[in-house]
Amino acid sequence: MANNLLSGKKGIIFGALNEDSIAWKVAEKAHEEGAEFILTNAPIAMRMGTLTELAEKTNSEIFPADATSMEDLDNLFNKAIEKFGRVDFILHSIGMSVNVRKGIHYTESNYDYYMKAMDVSAISFHKVMKLAMEKDLMNEWGSILALSYIAAQRVFPDYNDMADAKSLLESITRSFGYHFGERKKVRVNTISQSPTPTTAGSGVKGFDAFISYAEDNSPLGNASAASCADYCVVMFSDLTRYVTMQNLFHDGGFSFTGLSHQVMERYMKP
Ligand SMILES: NC(=O)c1ccc[n+]([C@@H]2O[C@H](COP(=O)([O-])OP(=O)(O)OC[C@H]3O[C@@H](n4cnc5c(N)ncnc54)[C@H](O)[C@@H]3O)[C@@H](O)[C@H]2O)c1
Repeated sequence: MANNLLSGKKGIIFGALNEDSIAWKVAEKAHEEGAEFILTNAPIAMRMGTLTELAEKTNSEIFPADATSMEDLDNLFNKAIEKFGRVDFILHSIGMSVNVRKGIHYTESNYDYYMKAMDVSAISFHKVMKLAMEKDLMNEWGSILALSYIAAQRVFPDYNDMADAKSLLESITRSFGYHFGERKKVRVNTISQSPTPTTAGSGVKGFDAFISYAEDNSPLGNASAASCADYCVVMFSDLTRYVTMQNLFHDGGFSFTGLSHQVMERYMKP
C-alpha cells in the first residue's frame, strides 16, 4: 500500500547487490512511494549481483562507483546532478571486512584489512557527504542514511572489526550531521538494524546463532529487511525533518531488552 511519501523526491541508493540486500528492498519501497533514484554499487559487485533486474523494475539508472574512491564518487555525483539537478536522499548501505571474510580473529587483526574495513564501511560515508556538500548535491531538508548494527555499542565477539567500523560510522553520522544540518538543513542518521539474512550478514561467524538469539530476545522479534526499508522511506520523507545525528534502533526492541521470558525459560531449572 503506497502513500506517495516520496513523490517528486530524487535520490541515490548505494549497496543493492541481490534481492536479499537491504538496499534492494529500500529501492523497491522508494519506487512504490514515488521516488526516482540512481542505483550504485562497486564495479566488482555489479558482476556478482543482479542489479539490472532491480533497475528495470524500479525504472532507474545504474552507475557504478567504488564508495571509497573520490574519483568514482565525483563521477557518480556529476551523473546525479546532470539527471536530477539536486537530490533529496542518499542511502549508504555498504559494509565489508576482509578480516571477517578470511575468518581472522579480532585479536589477530591484519591491519591492512582493518583499514580497508574502516574505509569501506565507515569512512566512505564521510567521503560521500564531503563530496555531496562540496558539489552542493543535496536539496535543503534532504535526508542521508547509513545502516548500522548494535555491535557499535555492545560486544558481539565474532562481529570482529565491523564493530569498530560501525562505531566510527555512527560517530561520523553525528559529526557530519551537525555541519550538514547547520549549513544546509540536511539530516544525517543511522538505522541500527536487526540481524538480517543477506550476503554481508551471513558472512559473520555464527550468524544463525546471532539471528536466533536476537529473535528470542526481542519482544517484537527481528525486523525484516522489508520493514527496514519502510523505516528508511519514512526517514527520507518530509515526516521526519527534525530527526538528525541519531542512531535509530530498528530491532524489535532488542536493544533495550535485558532478558526476555523466552530466553529466561531456557535457563530455568525444572
Ligand atoms: N545483514 C545484517 O544482519 C545487517 C544488520 C545491521 C546492519 N547491516 C548493514 O546493512 C548494510 C547493507 O548490508 P546488507 O546486509 O544488505 O548486505 P549486502 O551484502 O547485500 O550489502 C552490502 C553492500 O556493500 C557493497 N559494497 C562493498 N564494498 C563496497 C565499495 N567499496 N563500494 C560500494 N559498495 C560496496 C556490496 O557490493 C553490497 O552491495 C551494511 O552496512 C551492513 O553492515 C546489516
